[in-house]
Amino acid sequence: MAGTGLFTEILDGEAYKYYSDGEWKKSSSGKLVPIINPTTRKVHYKVQACTQEEVNKVMESAKTAQKSWAKTPLWKRAELLHKAASILKEQKAPIAECLVKEIAKPAKDAVTEVVRSGDLISYTAEEGVRILGEGKFLLSDSFPGNERTKYCLTSKIPLGVVLAIPPFNYPVNLAVSKIGPALIAGNSLVLKPPTQGAVSALHMVHCFHLAGFPKGLISCVTGKGSEIGDFLTMHPGVNCISFTGGDTGIAISKKAGMIPLQMELGGKDACIVLEDADLDLVAANIIKGGFSYSGQRCTAVKVVLVMESVADALVEKVKAKVAKLTVGPPEENCDITPVVSESSANYIEGLVMDAMKKEATFCQEYKREGNLIWPLLLDNVRPDMRIAWEEPFGPVLPVIRITTVEEGIHHCNASNFGLQGCVFTKDINKAMLISDAMETGTVQINSAPARGPDHFPFQGIKDSGIGSQGITNSINMMTKIKTTVINLPTPSYTMG
Ligand code: G3H
Repeated sequence: MAGTGLFTEILDGEAYKYYSDGEWKKSSSGKLVPIINPTTRKVHYKVQACTQEEVNKVMESAKTAQKSWAKTPLWKRAELLHKAASILKEQKAPIAECLVKEIAKPAKDAVTEVVRSGDLISYTAEEGVRILGEGKFLLSDSFPGNERTKYCLTSKIPLGVVLAIPPFNYPVNLAVSKIGPALIAGNSLVLKPPTQGAVSALHMVHCFHLAGFPKGLISCVTGKGSEIGDFLTMHPGVNCISFTGGDTGIAISKKAGMIPLQMELGGKDACIVLEDADLDLVAANIIKGGFSYSGQRCTAVKVVLVMESVADALVEKVKAKVAKLTVGPPEENCDITPVVSESSANYIEGLVMDAMKKEATFCQEYKREGNLIWPLLLDNVRPDMRIAWEEPFGPVLPVIRITTVEEGIHHCNASNFGLQGCVFTKDINKAMLISDAMETGTVQINSAPARGPDHFPFQGIKDSGIGSQGITNSINMMTKIKTTVINLPTPSYTMG
């Protein structure tokens, strides 16, 4: 159970502590931040409202710890990461329980998130050993006008302190996707979890504590974005920011200093369906892609662009599947669970009302109870409706009927977002042409968008973000290049 057994140390009465300098602490602010259970809409957990002074202390210890961590052999860093991964997987039940209570993730998906996170950490440790154990060796005579008098040795070195800010929808997985690469590359890590998801993240951080990482190397500060958000992202001690979330990321990128940024800020992933597509496959992927975790995924299918000639048939198939989705509490493993907050539910409702006013076809009746919104497919959506462009982050999916493929590509490319997209057709040649024309970081052919497997590159263009993620790319992004050049007095050519 959360906050018990191995986790007793992280709880103080009714409030979870924050993690600084290898210890679990209460904030000197004396203030707590409540976490509302999206299902009951009542306060379920409380976390510390850390102060700017406490952030300063965390940054100081992170800086000190990083200096010795960078001198820790790579195999030892990997060994500790493997240990953390295995503790995390052993502790999947209490962590999944937190995910259910604070973000209403269906119980079985919550367990999957924790297990996936353990696997991600282990893979990161292995990949780090492979790619950071290698460098480049360059010879000067490959550039015109040079003799072989210079040997250039290139290696990847840590950046320093990495600030990780994951989103509410994957507070464990999208935290470790930043923590693992940062640590294996020799950086220290300061985590600012989302408020909804903070307690899951604190449990996850305790697994790193139990694995025996040096004190100060990992810290976790909780609190209000309004009090410590800007202070963290503009802190002079931060050498890199890895952020996943909404358009706050754009504001962060404008305020952050001259440091590397990795940002994933959402998407409006289009699903283009051609006449020759396998409509059963498409319908199954629309359900999985559009409605899993109630549509609260950056990579969810967020607009279907289907050729008019097959639109009726596709809509019927999707409607039949929507009817089978179970709706209710996450504890009961329902497919559709309450969205994360009342304001989120209100925003989704605003998009639905706009579509209603502009006469979209409602394939189901719109229904909402508290934060729970029943799955809704909107047919005959037109570009003048907000739902055609905005990201609901909820179980509402628009269908736009198109008469040419170019129309579909045009709609996809007219979006401010450019995370992923997908195309369904049996013609691989057409699929390749469409993929090339779609201005998104990734295009999936004959499957719904998805970030995983977690070692695949994952990136958005336009307002969807900057930098590429995925295990290998994140490790590389969290390093910088150092070269040492050996200058010889006379040219020297190895003769064998
Ligand atoms: O919400 C953003 C996540 O990066 C999406 O990850 O495709 O594994 O659900 P996912």
